[in-house]
Amino acid sequence: MTAQYQVHGDVAVITMNNPPVNGLGLATRQGLADGLAKANADAAVKSIIITGGGKGFSGGADINEFGTDKTMQEPNLPSVISVLENSPKPVVAAIYGVAMGGGLELALGCHYRVAAPGTSVALPEVKLGLLPGAGGTQRLPRLLGVEAALNMIVSGEPVKSEMLAMLPGQKLFDKIAASPESLAEEAIAFARSVADVRPLPLVRNLPCKHPQGDAYFQFARNMVKGMSKNYPAPAKCVDAVEAATKNKFDDGVAVEREIFINLMWTPESRALRHIFLGERAASKIPDVPSSTPVRDIKSIAVIGAGTMGGGIAMNFLNAGIPVKMLEMKQEALDRGIATIRKNYESQVAKKKLKQDKYEQRMALLSTTLSYDELGDADMVIEAVFEEIGVKEAVFKELDRVMKPGAILASNTSTLDVDKIAAFTKRPEDVVGLHFFSPANIMKLLEVVRGAKTAKDVMATVMGIAKKIRKTAVVSGVCDGFIGNRMIEQYGRQGGFLLDEGCTPAQVDKAIEKFGFAMGPFRMGDLAGNDIGWAIRKRRYTEQPDMKYSKTADLLCEKGRFGQKTGAGWYDYVPGKRDAIPNAEVVAMIEEHRKSLGITPRKISDEEIVQRLVFSLVNEAAHILEEGIASKASDIDMVYLMGYGFPIYRGGPMNYADEVGLFNVVQAMNRFAKNPLDDAKFWQPAPLLAKLAAEGKTFN
Ligand code: 3HC
Ligand code: NAI
Repeated sequence: MTAQYQVHGDVAVITMNNPPVNGLGLATRQGLADGLAKANADAAVKSIIITGGGKGFSGGADINEFGTDKTMQEPNLPSVISVLENSPKPVVAAIYGVAMGGGLELALGCHYRVAAPGTSVALPEVKLGLLPGAGGTQRLPRLLGVEAALNMIVSGEPVKSEMLAMLPGQKLFDKIAASPESLAEEAIAFARSVADVRPLPLVRNLPCKHPQGDAYFQFARNMVKGMSKNYPAPAKCVDAVEAATKNKFDDGVAVEREIFINLMWTPESRALRHIFLGERAASKIPDVPSSTPVRDIKSIAVIGAGTMGGGIAMNFLNAGIPVKMLEMKQEALDRGIATIRKNYESQVAKKKLKQDKYEQRMALLSTTLSYDELGDADMVIEAVFEEIGVKEAVFKELDRVMKPGAILASNTSTLDVDKIAAFTKRPEDVVGLHFFSPANIMKLLEVVRGAKTAKDVMATVMGIAKKIRKTAVVSGVCDGFIGNRMIEQYGRQGGFLLDEGCTPAQVDKAIEKFGFAMGPFRMGDLAGNDIGWAIRKRRYTEQPDMKYSKTADLLCEKGRFGQKTGAGWYDYVPGKRDAIPNAEVVAMIEEHRKSLGITPRKISDEEIVQRLVFSLVNEAAHILEEGIASKASDIDMVYLMGYGFPIYRGGPMNYADEVGLFNVVQAMNRFAKNPLDDAKFWQPAPLLAKLAAEGKTFN
């Protein structure tokens, strides 16, 4: 049952019942339409209430239905709203929890609205690359005023019901209930009080004007310009609200509907919807059901107060979870604590954090030099030097002191988590938690599942990740896990492009124009070119047949490690991040090219982008096939949240799907013919070849 029907004396109550958030899928819409018909047919019923069961009123249209026939299937949302607008008996929306998107639009179509305090009210469609498509852009301005409504529509941000109720002249809410608990009773009383009022008030009949007319909409267009880069929806929101002020209601609705349908088919909206669902899907592990019991995590220990340890600790402090940090020496602890303080103080200075909150967080932090003081922590995260010998010593100590059932996590970025687990007598309690730098800011967390990691450990860390507001993605054990394993191929292509004729700035510019936050060479300078150098040196002995450009090694031999040395692929002025091209580096690349006997050629931006992005895609297809990632959307989340892949392209796998896997394979076959590239690498991964041949997609 997706909508329940009950009669309380002379009031019918239709309760949406489609957990988790009463998404307005086809069955729920049908349930609402049936309920309305039943109530109107019952002579004993004088007024009708629509409300939601569970978490709240409604989270809006069912996002899972988008792009399928079901969205438009009758009764579609505009039709349901039309049915309730035309109801001969008054319909009251009783709102609590969340009233978002189509959920709010449903309420706007009702004759009256009673809201519980604390309700999150929003038209968040813009965040999905859409605009409200069931009258929201036409009705909300009539109830809240054009400016307040447009702000909500363009930002998509939720506003609390009691705040909206305070807006001068608002007609959105007819009543704010005393509390969420009393909403049902108060809504019934309200419905009775208006049972005989005629004519029934309809939002469509209210006027809609802005006193400054065109000048205001010009101003609004300028305001959204910044956020419109690469996203068509915000500017369209302005168009639709302007239409509300210039047209008859039904004509305005037609304008809105047309824009909504067009936006639905844009790659940007597809990407944003994919991300919404992908972020949530990432937390689900196929063989770890949601019923898996979790371990109680009330306190954390962090080993190592360096770059990562400090940032990791801050995540837990921010979430109100006490942290104890261990170091080898007091000076290292003092340095680590001072960095944490500095970070928080800069947030206080920027007014992003209140002084008392800062103090509360610092009060949750304690330090020690002795493992014997850690035993009570429910989870420990190791962030010491990246050397297997050091990790061995640390994990043996942790095995000795930690209480039974404690989770032992490592932040290693390259080492074998199974090997680390084997240093303990409890490998089932060991897991990799690969944070990204700066760990207190970056959203991505790769959760590395060892061969023996227990299911309840996985369930627990996925839950904890949510608490500290990370997007956690599970990776199997392999060199580089998901993200760094892929970036190695991308970096290799960057090197070949230099050998063949590009400059670092040309490569960076092309991929930044594609939308990446930073090109591979600027990124190398930021992360430190010495890190890649160390990895390559290992590869040269472990995988001697792997082909690399030598330019990056030559750069490192000059000590140009990047921003930290003031010079890398580019030059840097101290204290600034601007990358200034360096003539010597360009000459070094040219000389190397000459020594290889290569005549440089002009390489198009298109080729640069394809080689970089498709190298990610091919490696990702191997990762998927090997089961290192369990779904393509997980790989997209890694690249979007951790590597600056353009959001509006939805991640490398989504982008490959958009391009068409057949076309991706064709391009790879072309690249394989380039003698200066790596023909073996460009053999399409079997999974990719198969999907392309079958006309299928990754996602
Ligand atoms: N459709 C389908 N599923 C939805 C949904 C929706 N509109 N909103 C949330 N869900 C699902 C999520 O996918 C998730 O599923 P899961 O349990 O299987 O992972 C579950 O509900 C819970 O979601 P959250 O983890 O996000 O739970 P929170 O409590 O943190 O947040 C929320 C709840 C504030 C409602 C948040 O989910 C949200 O912002 N949802 C999106 C709202 C939205 O964008 N609505 C507009 C839809 S477009 C529209 O209405 C078009 C119309 O104008 C025609
Ligand atoms: P770091 O050098 O800044 O910090 C390491 C800290 O560990 C130092 O303060 C050191 O005193 C301490 N330490 C070393 N041995 C110890 C021991 N036996 N007991 C207690 N403390 C000890 O290093 P960073 O960058 O923080 O890296 C830590 C770990 O995080 C490494 O495994 C690294 O691979 C990983 N990592 C690093 C990332 C980065 O961008 N820096 C990103 C993701 C993971």
